[in-house]
Amino acid sequence: MIRFEHVFKRYPERGEALSDVSFEMNVGEMAFLTGHSGAGKSTLLRLLGLLERPTRGQVVVHGRNLASLPRGQIPFHRRQVGMIFQDYRLLPDRSVFDNVALPLVVAGLPHKDIGRRVRAALDQVGLLKRERATPSALSGGEQQRVGIARAVVARPPVLLADEPTGNLDPDLSREIFELFERFHAVGVTLLIATHDLSLVRSMSHRTFTLHDGRLVKDSGGH
Ligand SMILES: Nc1ncnc2c1ncn2[C@@H]1O[C@H](COP(=O)(O)OP(=O)(O)O)[C@@H](O)[C@H]1O
Ligand SMILES: [Mg+2]
Repeated sequence: MIRFEHVFKRYPERGEALSDVSFEMNVGEMAFLTGHSGAGKSTLLRLLGLLERPTRGQVVVHGRNLASLPRGQIPFHRRQVGMIFQDYRLLPDRSVFDNVALPLVVAGLPHKDIGRRVRAALDQVGLLKRERATPSALSGGEQQRVGIARAVVARPPVLLADEPTGNLDPDLSREIFELFERFHAVGVTLLIATHDLSLVRSMSHRTFTLHDGRLVKDSGGH
C-alpha cells in the first residue's frame, strides 16, 4: 500500500513543488498521474522512489515510512520500486543484456541467476532477440521496453513511470501502456505520470491530477 499524508516538498530557492498532498493506493492498483508541466508529478514519483525526501508529511510504502527510513534500508526500498523514465536512461555503451542486468548486479545476485532473470524480463517486453544490441541500434519504443525490462527485472511490487511515452508516437505509446496493463494484471502496483490524456481516458484507471503542487482531483478515491 502507498500512502501520502500531508506531504509538502520544497526545493531550496523555489516555491513549494508539492503542497499538502494526501492519498492512498492499494496494492495492485494501477493509476495515472496527470497535470501541467511543473505541477509536481516527477517530484511525487521521486519521493516514492526515495530519490528525494519530503520537507514535511509522511510517505509510506508497504508500511515503511520513507521520511524516516534509515539509510541502510534505502537499497532494499529501491529494489521494491522499479522506475521508468521518459528519456530511458540506458547506458549507451552497454548491451541490452547488461543494461537490464544492472539492478541485479548492483544487488549482488549470483551470476547464474542473473542470466535467467534478465532473459525472463526481456521476454516479457518482447526483446529476447535483441539482448546483444546496444541501445543506439534500437528504436525509441524498443529502448523504452529495455527501460521497462530493467525496471521489472528485480520483480519489484511497485512500478513508477515518469512520462514513459513522452518521446513516442501514439501507436508505440499504446503498446507501452498495454505492457503496463499486463504487469497490473499480475498484481504489480503502478503509478504512471503522463501528459497523454487521450490514452488515459481510453483506459479507465484511477487518475490523479496535480495543479501547482496540489492534488486537485482523484477520479477513484477510496
Ligand atoms: N531539483 C529541483 N530543484 C529545484 N526545483 C525543482 C527541482 N525539481 C523540480 N523543481 C520544481 O518543482 C516544481 C515541480 O516540478 P516537477 O515535479 O518536475 O513537475 P512535473 O513533473 O509535473 O513537470 C516545478 O516548479 C519545478 O521547477
Ligand atoms: Mg516531470
